[in-house]
Amino acid sequence: MTPASASPDAAPGTQPTPTLDVAAIRDEFPILAQEVHGKPLAYLDNAATSQKPRSVLDAIQHYYTHDNANVHRGLHTLAERATRDYEDARLKLARFVNTPDAAGVVFTRGATEAINLVAHSYARHHPTCALKPGEQVMVTEMEHHSNIVPWQIACEMTGAELVVCPVHDDGSLDLHRFRELLDAGSVKIAAFSAVSNVLGTVNPVAELVTRAKRAGAVTVVDACQAPAHQRIDVQRWGCDFLAISGHKMFGPTGIGALIAKPDKLAKMAPYQGGGEMISRVTFEKTTYNDPPHRFEAGTPNIAGAIAFGAAVDWLSQHDYKAIKAHEQTLIAAATEKLEQIDGLRLIGTAHGKAAVASFVVDGIHAYDLGPVLDRQGVAVRTGHHCCEPLMDRFGVPATVRASFALYNTLDEIDRLIDGLHKAIAFFR
Ligand code: ALA
Repeated sequence: MTPASASPDAAPGTQPTPTLDVAAIRDEFPILAQEVHGKPLAYLDNAATSQKPRSVLDAIQHYYTHDNANVHRGLHTLAERATRDYEDARLKLARFVNTPDAAGVVFTRGATEAINLVAHSYARHHPTCALKPGEQVMVTEMEHHSNIVPWQIACEMTGAELVVCPVHDDGSLDLHRFRELLDAGSVKIAAFSAVSNVLGTVNPVAELVTRAKRAGAVTVVDACQAPAHQRIDVQRWGCDFLAISGHKMFGPTGIGALIAKPDKLAKMAPYQGGGEMISRVTFEKTTYNDPPHRFEAGTPNIAGAIAFGAAVDWLSQHDYKAIKAHEQTLIAAATEKLEQIDGLRLIGTAHGKAAVASFVVDGIHAYDLGPVLDRQGVAVRTGHHCCEPLMDRFGVPATVRASFALYNTLDEIDRLIDGLHKAIAFFR
């Protein structure tokens, strides 16, 4: 097991870089202790989904074993416990992203649903701000399909236009073009990711939001790749809408959140109709509940939300400086070793990128490399990563992607490199 990243000697008067006890962290993730094809698992697919610590698994088990009941509906003890823990999770999430009012935290199925909610209830159906012909939505070339397609649909339905801010060859955002598109004056919604799931590019969110706001655009930040690696601060970023996903930050699948100011949400049209989102229903007219409940129709993913809260608690125990130092050690080592492989091209080399290494190897399809790595116990993602326009931009059909989290080790990077050498030898 590789120890926590070493702390460089601190200069007099400066704080030493905090370190992680990676071995102890790994012990909290039962799934990591297994073998795959007779080899210890090296799980390097964290951008697709992160693994779950025992406290998150326990939270799910505890809810179904002791407290299972519907929320906001019953007056019995189990219903009260379930409601308390569900709403506590909302408070935890509000504190975690530094938003002042938990009423602005809407639980969703994930970041995808959060973005679709904004595209539907704000971009298409807002009583005064819905898109109109001649107006534009700006996305970037590095977006995931979930931050492209909902806007395409909104544009199709309203007559607005989708415009795209390009990325440079290193995968950084073309800030000059970003400004130009905004300065043209028609962008009403600017939607961009905080961290690219393919390139690892970390966007300057606060700066992008400031520029967009100055141009009169509403901002939507897809932050689902961020919280495993860096602090999210909605107030510092200043964005109007932020989408996050539980399963990418050590929580369960099927739960995420949309974060916005409650007064902004209160002016938006409902997303789905059903129980809980209403104030009063008659056959003649229905009035709607206040946010966040207006956007949580039906029985929510109660266990998921509570376990999401447990993931927030777990992540909050760790210092982001220590996480970053460790992950930067991993990505630096991976980059150096990958670059030495003949015919391998890294896609995404922007300065300060997150711990994600996407690459292609001359003459060998990513889909061929993935299964051979799997036979070595190394789990990576292969494919277009739900970013087909980005693949087109770099002229590749697919990449192999190794994406790291705080529990990964230098030893696992060596296993990736050894596995690649074996795979390349096999196919060449
Ligand atoms: N968006 C996820 C990924 O990048 C699924 O793999």
